[in-house]
Amino acid sequence: MRIRIEIGKENFIPPLVSRLHGEDFMAGAPNRRGMGAIGEGEDVLLYLDERRTYQVRVEAGKQFHTHKGFVELGDLIGRSYGSPVVSSLGVRFHALRPLVRDRILKTDRRTQVLYPKDIGYLLLRMGIGAGSLVVEAGTGSGALTCALADAVRPDGRVYSYEINPRFQRIAAGNVERAGLMGYVELKEGDVTEGIDEEGVDAVVLDMATPWLVIPHAYEALAGSGVFASFSPTIEQVMKTVSALRERPFVEVETIELMLRRINVAENKTRPQTVMIGHSGYVTTARKVLEE
Ligand SMILES: C[S@@+](CC[C@H](N)C(=O)[O-])C[C@H]1O[C@@H](n2cnc3c(N)ncnc32)[C@H](O)[C@@H]1O
Repeated sequence: MRIRIEIGKENFIPPLVSRLHGEDFMAGAPNRRGMGAIGEGEDVLLYLDERRTYQVRVEAGKQFHTHKGFVELGDLIGRSYGSPVVSSLGVRFHALRPLVRDRILKTDRRTQVLYPKDIGYLLLRMGIGAGSLVVEAGTGSGALTCALADAVRPDGRVYSYEINPRFQRIAAGNVERAGLMGYVELKEGDVTEGIDEEGVDAVVLDMATPWLVIPHAYEALAGSGVFASFSPTIEQVMKTVSALRERPFVEVETIELMLRRINVAENKTRPQTVMIGHSGYVTTARKVLEE
């Protein structure tokens, strides 16, 4: 099925997809279902222990070397996800199917990236799902881009702006490797100068000067569309909220999420002593229309 969707000035043709069991099987798109066999050219997450996992591409004749010996990656072809594989030194690994979360944590990072705790909230708060049209800036290393692309597939689209071509190239590699490029348009440019798209469901920013983008975000969003911005400092939040209050946005809200891991062990179950104390603040708002 080939669908043509009108969005303001731009038309785009989503990639050719066929649906089976609710999944899209665009070439290279990651499979959300755990069932099925590992295929040549797919990524697996080799799990060694709670601290060590390795994302590797399965290819016949290719070896993955670790300090625990090497693993013959071709031996995984045709086996079920979750299967054990034994290294040349007799150490057991398990081949997990990489989740988008795993891909984000393994992203080739040249910029600060958004972390799963913030991305998870953003996706729900923005109401992103299959078919959503989303504008993002800056692309950075593409970690958020991957999560957005995975959420909007099979027939949504992510338009991601990045001012620095070097970062854009890194992001392209990360999105390509995740098999999600079919749902993403990487756009090189300064998003403070304008957004080409119109009628989008969400605009999400992770960049130094989000307040400069708010007039363009308002124009790009459909009525009731969601604006979201992630900023590490309170000063950025204050400028962003002031700019939002100058326009017809409602539900203007800023939150901070803290994640604390719990060590679970007999008679010693308690939070970890050390935690990441701060990543950033998430500001969200919804566009309303004036008479
Ligand atoms: C913190 S990184 C974004 C990380 C990204 N969210 C991720 O998860 O990988 C911020 C990015 O915004 C880009 N940026 C800053 N100002 C910009 C602008 N005016 N237009 C487009 N991109 C911009 C920077 O070059 C940088 O790559």
